[in-house]
Amino acid sequence: MPEKNTMTENEKNPRIQKESTPESSRLKNGEKSTIKITVRNLDFFYGTVQALFDVSLDIPEHRVFALIGPSGCGKSTFLRTLNRMNDTIPGTRLEGTILLDDDDIYKVKDVSVIRTRVGMVFQKSNPFPKSIFENVAYGLRVNGINDKSLIAEQVEETLKKAYLWDEVKDKLNHNAYLLSGGQQQRLCIARALAVRPEVVLMDEPASALDPISTSKIEDLIGELKKDYTIVIVTHNMQQAARVSDFTAFFYEGVMVEVGATRKIFTKPDQKKTEDYITGRFG
Ligand SMILES: Nc1ncnc2c1ncn2[C@@H]1O[C@H](COP(=O)(O)OP(=O)(O)OP(=O)(O)O)[C@@H](O)[C@H]1O
Ligand SMILES: [Mg+2]
Repeated sequence: MPEKNTMTENEKNPRIQKESTPESSRLKNGEKSTIKITVRNLDFFYGTVQALFDVSLDIPEHRVFALIGPSGCGKSTFLRTLNRMNDTIPGTRLEGTILLDDDDIYKVKDVSVIRTRVGMVFQKSNPFPKSIFENVAYGLRVNGINDKSLIAEQVEETLKKAYLWDEVKDKLNHNAYLLSGGQQQRLCIARALAVRPEVVLMDEPASALDPISTSKIEDLIGELKKDYTIVIVTHNMQQAARVSDFTAFFYEGVMVEVGATRKIFTKPDQKKTEDYITGRFG
């Protein structure tokens, strides 16, 4: 009698394995979350120099996922692979698979579709040299909204979402550069949200800000995860512990450990993780 083939599709083809790792998909209350981004066997090269080695992890939907690790370990590189921002750097190469829901983002022909679905906020705020209003309206127009009153309505709604409305509602026509650094960063978050992304990538969004602005950004991140999936790079361990549900620790291009933030910061499995979070290196 022929042996029954009991392998699942995932076992047959591990490179597109969609089954989440128990660790990273288990939420604090024990319930399972949908996986928004699935990364499998990701290698990344700048020319001949490899910057990421065989990274596999799951990013759950409507949660905050933090990337930590010493300078140069590949956090920003990894973050940029999630919306194909690295495509803009000549000589780079990627192997492996990244799925956004069920879509292989490197097989999508129109990159702008991916960048709309996966928005990005950078370390240094970079508002356009336009009015506060126009910075947000830009994102709406990109998304095909042209009706004037609808734009005005949604600019207000988006600025409220970014916790900025009360501070700017009387000066919407002022140049964005006249805002403080912390306000400019929240304006950039508003601009990113206006495009209606599903995922927001943030690369050290608060590292240039004072403690009050930082705490505003952290509050905002906590609020945003209701509607978006957030992936954040931070050097600030307390911040990672405060804002994130899951944390991945990277070291020299390798994803050493991933899991619930509470576990990573209290009893990590790997000694390297422990050394890093206790400040013994990095
Ligand atoms: N455009 C680039 N061209 C060539 N090498 C690069 C480029 N950007 C980054 N690298 C290299 O890739 C590796 C990972 O860099 P990356 O910027 O991803 O690190 P990081 O963890 O974000 O560091 P930091 O915490 O300092 O921001 C480093 O060795 C870096 O020198
Ligand atoms: Mg970086």
